[in-house]
Amino acid sequence: MEHDFLPDEWQQFYADCVNCRACSLGELRQNAVVYRGALNAPLFILGEGPGEKEDLQGRPFVGRSGHLLDTLLQAIDLPLDQVHIGNIVKCRPPGNRVPTEAEATSCEPLLTRQFDLVKPKIVLLMGATAYKYFTGQSDPITKIRGMWQRHRGMDVMPTFHPAYVLRNNRHRLPLYDDLLAVKKRLESTLLEEKNHEQV
Ligand code: URA
Repeated sequence: MEHDFLPDEWQQFYADCVNCRACSLGELRQNAVVYRGALNAPLFILGEGPGEKEDLQGRPFVGRSGHLLDTLLQAIDLPLDQVHIGNIVKCRPPGNRVPTEAEATSCEPLLTRQFDLVKPKIVLLMGATAYKYFTGQSDPITKIRGMWQRHRGMDVMPTFHPAYVLRNNRHRLPLYDDLLAVKKRLESTLLEEKNHEQV
């Protein structure tokens, strides 16, 4: 991918991701997978880690899970210019296994820099791994999905991972409902900000 068009601080960040060897996943990747969507976005959608297609293309959620995510975002009419999509780890774990705690911890400084650049107000955590490594908590996703939490100064919604929904179709509606709740919160947050600016 060509990234000359990115603002300076993003170019530096991107280069640091592409050159990262903080854990052994960096030795195995075809491409570091950093983001897709808007650079500055009020909503950050966070997944687990790249799969095969993402590793080949260098972009997150471009396989079957991504297709479902895009379909749902389109269904609820959530504009992509309000969304930034990334993952807990930027390099594909072999065989698409779950990233280890050590790998997530190695990747954390880059993820923190990414959040500092994107400056989201709301975070959608997709799946148990994103929930665990982002919040440091390990409640079962079935128990806490759809319930707002507050972390690092942001409104955080945990939900099912699209890959899980593809395997268990009965979870499709809850994922849709959670996305809809996120869209509503996004609209009210943006409206509040606008009103605040006008005062
Ligand atoms: N699953 C994820 O968690 N992230 C991706 O980028 C693709 C599939």
